[in-house]
Amino acid sequence: MKSAVYPGSFDPATNGHLDIIKRASKIVDKLYVAVLDNPSKTPLFTVGERVAQLKEILKDHDNIEVRSFSGLLVDFARSVNSNIIVRGLRGVTDFSYEFQMALSNRSLDSDIETLFISADTQYLFFSSSQVKEIAYFKGNIDNMVPDIIKTELLKKLENM
Ligand code: COA
Repeated sequence: MKSAVYPGSFDPATNGHLDIIKRASKIVDKLYVAVLDNPSKTPLFTVGERVAQLKEILKDHDNIEVRSFSGLLVDFARSVNSNIIVRGLRGVTDFSYEFQMALSNRSLDSDIETLFISADTQYLFFSSSQVKEIAYFKGNIDNMVPDIIKTELLKKLENM
């Protein structure tokens, strides 16, 4: 069985992430969406909230499993018996960071391969931070995130 890991902070997950997740899930038997629990960052959503959101959004996809992880990504990949890491590329600006990360992961574990999927043109221009900023200033994020994320984001920002 061929499996892959799609890691990220997903704070919050955007339609851009979901596009990559759905496309990646079609080329492997099993896709692990791995939500980083990074104690050195202060995310808007807790790791539990991010995992719950993704589980809800992806509940109809039988070959996708959402998990959290901390520590090294290669260790998480090993723990689920996967040697493929999927990353989305939105353009040349993503490339140097992604290339460096792919090389680092390979130097940590030579069995690891990073598979890049080009983002769809409609999702090239935004990131999680931008979505949060637009929502904070009451801009329209309808095309950027699923409804569940929009609702939770607005609720979170109201309580800040
Ligand atoms: N559509 C929309 N936005 C996208 C996107 C897409 N297809 N792909 C990436 N992004 C955005 C994210 O929204 C995020 O935006 P933000 O910075 O405004 O929040 C940004 O690109 C990067 O996010 P993400 O893809 O979640 O990656 P990350 O940099 O937060 O996390 C990990 C990268 C989790 C893969 C990496 O930090 C990791 O592996 N950490 C574990 C520790 C480790 O193993 N380190 C050694 C490896 S070098």
